[in-house]
Amino acid sequence: MNNNYLDCLALFGVGGAHPGGLPLTKRILSKEEIDETKSILDAGCGTGQTSAYISKKYQCHVTSLDCNKMMLDKARKRYLSLQLPIEVKHGSTENLPFDKGLFDFILSESVISFTDVSLTLPEFNRVLKPNGVLLAIEMVQEKPTTEGERTTLINFYGVPQLLTESEWCNLFKKFGFKHVHVEEDMQPIDEMDLELGADFALSEDIDGKYFEILEKHEQLTEDYKEVLGFRIFRCCK
Ligand SMILES: C[S@@+](CC[C@H](N)C(=O)[O-])C[C@H]1O[C@@H](n2cnc3c(N)ncnc32)[C@H](O)[C@@H]1O
Repeated sequence: MNNNYLDCLALFGVGGAHPGGLPLTKRILSKEEIDETKSILDAGCGTGQTSAYISKKYQCHVTSLDCNKMMLDKARKRYLSLQLPIEVKHGSTENLPFDKGLFDFILSESVISFTDVSLTLPEFNRVLKPNGVLLAIEMVQEKPTTEGERTTLINFYGVPQLLTESEWCNLFKKFGFKHVHVEEDMQPIDEMDLELGADFALSEDIDGKYFEILEKHEQLTEDYKEVLGFRIFRCCK
Protein backbone atom coordinates (compact mmCIF):
# COMPACT_ATOMS: atom_id res chain seq x y z
CA MET A 1 0.00 0.00 0.00
CA ASN A 2 1.28 3.50 -0.79
CA ASN A 3 1.77 5.65 2.23
CA ASN A 4 2.99 9.20 1.61
CA TYR A 5 3.72 9.82 5.27
CA LEU A 6 5.92 6.70 5.61
CA ASP A 7 7.60 7.45 2.26
CA CYS A 8 8.36 10.90 3.63
CA LEU A 9 10.00 9.43 6.78
CA ALA A 10 12.05 7.12 4.54
CA LEU A 11 13.20 9.92 2.19
CA PHE A 12 14.26 12.14 5.07
CA GLY A 13 15.70 9.07 6.83
CA VAL A 14 14.18 10.05 10.15
CA GLY A 15 15.78 8.06 12.97
CA GLY A 16 13.73 7.50 16.12
CA ALA A 17 10.45 8.14 14.28
CA HIS A 18 8.23 7.35 17.25
CA PRO A 19 6.86 9.38 20.15
CA GLY A 20 9.50 9.94 22.81
CA GLY A 21 12.32 9.03 20.41
CA LEU A 22 15.48 7.27 21.59
CA PRO A 23 15.25 8.60 25.17
CA LEU A 24 11.93 6.76 25.64
CA THR A 25 13.34 3.62 23.99
CA LYS A 26 16.23 3.64 26.45
CA ARG A 27 13.88 4.00 29.40
CA ILE A 28 11.65 1.14 28.24
CA LEU A 29 14.57 -1.22 27.66
CA SER A 30 16.28 -0.37 30.93
CA LYS A 31 13.37 -2.01 32.78
CA GLU A 32 13.87 -5.36 31.01
CA GLU A 33 16.33 -8.14 31.74
CA ILE A 34 18.43 -8.06 28.59
CA ASP A 35 21.84 -9.66 28.23
CA GLU A 36 23.93 -11.07 25.39
CA THR A 37 21.98 -14.35 25.38
CA LYS A 38 18.76 -12.63 24.32
CA SER A 39 17.35 -12.43 20.82
CA ILE A 40 15.47 -9.23 19.90
CA LEU A 41 13.38 -8.33 16.87
CA ASP A 42 13.06 -4.63 16.01
CA ALA A 43 9.90 -4.94 13.93
CA GLY A 44 9.47 -1.97 11.59
CA CYS A 45 12.99 -0.79 12.38
CA GLY A 46 13.01 2.24 10.06
CA THR A 47 16.56 3.55 9.70
CA GLY A 48 17.72 1.37 12.59
CA GLN A 49 18.48 3.83 15.37
CA THR A 50 16.94 1.56 18.02
CA SER A 51 18.52 -1.66 16.67
CA ALA A 52 21.94 0.00 16.70
CA TYR A 53 21.43 1.18 20.27
CA ILE A 54 20.39 -2.31 21.45
CA SER A 55 23.22 -4.07 19.68
CA LYS A 56 25.85 -1.70 21.11
CA LYS A 57 24.44 -1.55 24.61
CA TYR A 58 23.46 -5.19 25.20
CA GLN A 59 25.58 -7.08 22.64
CA CYS A 60 22.71 -9.47 22.06
CA HIS A 61 21.39 -10.87 18.80
CA VAL A 62 19.36 -8.15 17.04
CA THR A 63 17.21 -8.62 13.95
CA SER A 64 15.93 -5.54 12.11
CA LEU A 65 12.89 -5.97 9.89
CA ASP A 66 11.09 -3.44 7.71
CA CYS A 67 8.93 -3.58 4.59
CA ASN A 68 10.41 -0.36 3.16
CA LYS A 69 13.59 -0.98 1.16
CA MET A 70 14.79 2.61 1.43
CA MET A 71 14.53 2.46 5.22
CA LEU A 72 16.43 -0.83 5.26
CA ASP A 73 19.21 0.53 3.01
CA LYS A 74 19.69 3.40 5.41
CA ALA A 75 19.64 1.00 8.37
CA ARG A 76 22.25 -1.24 6.67
CA LYS A 77 24.54 1.75 6.08
CA ARG A 78 24.24 2.72 9.73
CA TYR A 79 25.15 -0.79 10.94
CA LEU A 80 28.05 -1.03 8.50
CA SER A 81 29.53 2.28 9.58
CA LEU A 82 29.19 1.29 13.25
CA GLN A 83 30.36 -2.27 12.53
CA LEU A 84 27.39 -3.81 14.28
CA PRO A 85 26.48 -7.48 13.63
CA ILE A 86 22.76 -6.86 13.13
CA GLU A 87 20.70 -9.20 10.96
CA VAL A 88 18.60 -7.28 8.43
CA LYS A 89 15.41 -8.71 6.92
CA HIS A 90 13.07 -7.27 4.35
CA GLY A 91 9.50 -8.34 5.10
CA SER A 92 6.16 -7.52 6.59
CA THR A 93 5.02 -7.81 10.17
CA GLU A 94 1.85 -9.28 8.68
CA ASN A 95 3.73 -12.33 7.40
CA LEU A 96 7.01 -12.62 9.25
CA PRO A 97 9.86 -14.52 7.57
CA PHE A 98 10.80 -16.35 10.80
CA ASP A 99 10.12 -19.71 12.43
CA LYS A 100 7.97 -19.77 15.51
CA GLY A 101 9.35 -19.17 19.01
CA LEU A 102 12.56 -17.37 18.00
CA PHE A 103 12.59 -14.11 19.94
CA ASP A 104 12.81 -13.16 23.62
CA PHE A 105 11.63 -9.63 22.82
CA ILE A 106 9.88 -7.87 19.99
CA LEU A 107 10.17 -4.12 20.00
CA SER A 108 7.70 -2.35 17.76
CA GLU A 109 7.90 1.41 17.88
CA SER A 110 5.07 3.16 16.08
CA VAL A 111 4.54 0.37 13.58
CA ILE A 112 1.49 -1.80 14.38
CA SER A 113 -0.84 1.16 13.80
CA PHE A 114 0.22 1.19 10.14
CA THR A 115 -0.51 -2.50 9.63
CA ASP A 116 -3.44 -4.88 9.64
CA VAL A 117 -3.53 -5.56 13.39
CA SER A 118 -5.40 -8.84 12.91
CA LEU A 119 -2.41 -10.17 10.92
CA THR A 120 0.49 -8.51 12.76
CA LEU A 121 -0.45 -9.48 16.32
CA PRO A 122 -0.81 -13.25 15.66
CA GLU A 123 2.53 -13.10 13.82
CA PHE A 124 4.23 -11.40 16.77
CA ASN A 125 2.72 -14.01 19.06
CA ARG A 126 3.92 -16.84 16.82
CA VAL A 127 7.58 -15.76 16.60
CA LEU A 128 7.94 -14.91 20.30
CA LYS A 129 9.26 -17.55 22.70
CA PRO A 130 6.67 -18.84 25.22
CA ASN A 131 7.97 -16.40 27.84
CA GLY A 132 8.73 -13.69 25.29
CA VAL A 133 7.66 -10.07 25.61
CA LEU A 134 6.22 -7.65 23.08
CA LEU A 135 7.05 -4.00 23.76
CA ALA A 136 5.02 -1.65 21.61
CA ILE A 137 4.77 2.12 21.47
CA GLU A 138 1.54 3.01 19.73
CA MET A 139 -0.57 5.99 18.88
CA VAL A 140 -3.87 6.18 20.79
CA GLN A 141 -6.99 8.23 20.37
CA GLU A 142 -7.45 10.10 23.66
CA LYS A 143 -10.79 11.76 22.98
CA PRO A 144 -13.79 11.31 20.71
CA THR A 145 -13.52 13.15 17.39
CA THR A 146 -15.92 14.08 14.65
CA GLU A 147 -16.07 11.73 11.68
CA GLY A 148 -14.34 14.44 9.60
CA GLU A 149 -11.42 14.73 12.04
CA ARG A 150 -10.98 10.96 12.14
CA THR A 151 -10.94 10.81 8.36
CA THR A 152 -8.34 13.60 8.18
CA LEU A 153 -6.01 11.74 10.56
CA ILE A 154 -6.58 8.29 9.05
CA ASN A 155 -6.00 9.57 5.52
CA PHE A 156 -2.93 11.62 6.38
CA TYR A 157 -1.13 8.88 8.32
CA GLY A 158 -2.44 6.11 6.07
CA VAL A 159 -3.50 3.98 9.04
CA PRO A 160 -6.41 1.51 8.81
CA GLN A 161 -7.96 2.90 12.02
CA LEU A 162 -7.39 4.96 15.16
CA LEU A 163 -7.63 2.97 18.38
CA THR A 164 -8.21 3.96 21.99
CA GLU A 165 -6.12 2.48 24.81
CA SER A 166 -8.83 -0.02 25.71
CA GLU A 167 -9.36 -1.04 22.08
CA TRP A 168 -5.63 -1.76 21.84
CA CYS A 169 -5.74 -3.82 25.05
CA ASN A 170 -8.69 -5.84 23.76
CA LEU A 171 -6.87 -6.56 20.51
CA PHE A 172 -3.66 -7.66 22.23
CA LYS A 173 -5.74 -10.03 24.35
CA LYS A 174 -7.83 -11.25 21.42
CA PHE A 175 -4.67 -12.23 19.56
CA GLY A 176 -3.09 -14.25 22.35
CA PHE A 177 -1.37 -11.85 24.74
CA LYS A 178 -2.79 -12.75 28.15
CA HIS A 179 -1.05 -10.06 30.16
CA VAL A 180 -1.05 -6.50 28.92
CA HIS A 181 0.50 -3.73 30.96
CA VAL A 182 -0.06 -0.18 29.78
CA GLU A 183 2.06 2.83 30.57
CA GLU A 184 1.59 6.45 29.77
CA ASP A 185 4.94 8.17 29.50
CA MET A 186 4.63 10.97 32.02
CA GLN A 187 8.33 11.81 32.16
CA PRO A 188 9.14 15.29 30.92
CA ILE A 189 10.94 15.14 27.61
CA ASP A 190 14.52 16.24 28.03
CA GLU A 191 15.00 18.46 24.96
CA MET A 192 18.76 18.02 25.12
CA ASP A 193 18.45 14.23 25.13
CA LEU A 194 15.90 14.38 22.30
CA GLU A 195 18.25 16.53 20.22
CA LEU A 196 21.09 14.11 20.77
CA GLY A 197 18.78 11.29 19.66
CA ALA A 198 17.62 13.08 16.49
CA ASP A 199 19.21 11.84 13.31
CA PHE A 200 18.47 12.10 9.63
CA ALA A 201 19.79 10.32 6.55
CA LEU A 202 18.46 12.42 3.69
CA SER A 203 18.00 11.03 0.20
CA GLU A 204 19.07 13.17 -2.75
CA ASP A 205 16.55 15.27 -4.71
CA ILE A 206 13.57 15.05 -2.39
CA ASP A 207 10.39 16.18 -4.17
CA GLY A 208 8.84 19.38 -2.77
CA LYS A 209 5.63 17.53 -1.89
CA TYR A 210 7.46 15.68 0.89
CA PHE A 211 8.50 18.93 2.57
CA GLU A 212 4.81 19.85 2.55
CA ILE A 213 3.96 16.49 4.13
CA LEU A 214 6.46 17.14 6.93
CA GLU A 215 4.92 20.56 7.53
CA LYS A 216 1.42 19.09 7.53
CA HIS A 217 2.54 16.50 10.08
CA GLU A 218 3.85 19.31 12.36
CA GLN A 219 0.57 21.16 11.93
CA LEU A 220 -1.60 18.10 12.65
CA THR A 221 0.49 17.25 15.71
CA GLU A 222 -0.23 20.71 17.08
CA ASP A 223 -3.92 20.81 16.04
CA TYR A 224 -4.67 17.35 17.41
CA LYS A 225 -2.47 17.34 20.51
CA GLU A 226 -5.51 16.75 22.74
CA VAL A 227 -6.79 13.92 20.54
CA LEU A 228 -3.66 11.94 19.68
CA GLY A 229 -1.50 10.44 22.39
CA PHE A 230 0.56 7.33 22.76
CA ARG A 231 1.02 4.44 25.15
CA ILE A 232 3.65 1.88 25.91
CA PHE A 233 2.17 -1.63 25.86
CA ARG A 234 4.07 -4.50 27.48
CA CYS A 235 2.45 -7.74 26.38
CA CYS A 236 3.17 -11.32 27.46
CA LYS A 237 1.70 -14.58 26.17
C1 LIG B 1 6.75 5.57 12.05
S1 LIG B 1 7.98 4.56 11.34
C2 LIG B 1 8.87 4.01 12.79
C3 LIG B 1 10.21 3.46 12.44
C4 LIG B 1 11.05 3.00 13.64
N1 LIG B 1 10.40 2.01 14.43
C5 LIG B 1 11.43 4.19 14.47
O1 LIG B 1 10.93 4.31 15.58
O2 LIG B 1 12.21 5.01 13.97
C6 LIG B 1 7.07 3.11 10.90
C7 LIG B 1 7.92 2.04 10.24
O3 LIG B 1 7.15 0.86 10.09
C8 LIG B 1 7.42 0.29 8.83
N2 LIG B 1 6.27 -0.53 8.48
C9 LIG B 1 4.99 -0.14 8.22
N3 LIG B 1 4.23 -1.20 7.94
C10 LIG B 1 5.03 -2.30 8.04
C11 LIG B 1 4.83 -3.69 7.86
N4 LIG B 1 3.61 -4.20 7.56
N5 LIG B 1 5.88 -4.52 8.02
C12 LIG B 1 7.11 -4.05 8.33
N6 LIG B 1 7.36 -2.73 8.51
C13 LIG B 1 6.33 -1.87 8.37
C14 LIG B 1 7.62 1.49 7.94
O4 LIG B 1 8.29 1.17 6.74
C15 LIG B 1 8.43 2.41 8.85
O5 LIG B 1 9.80 2.15 8.76
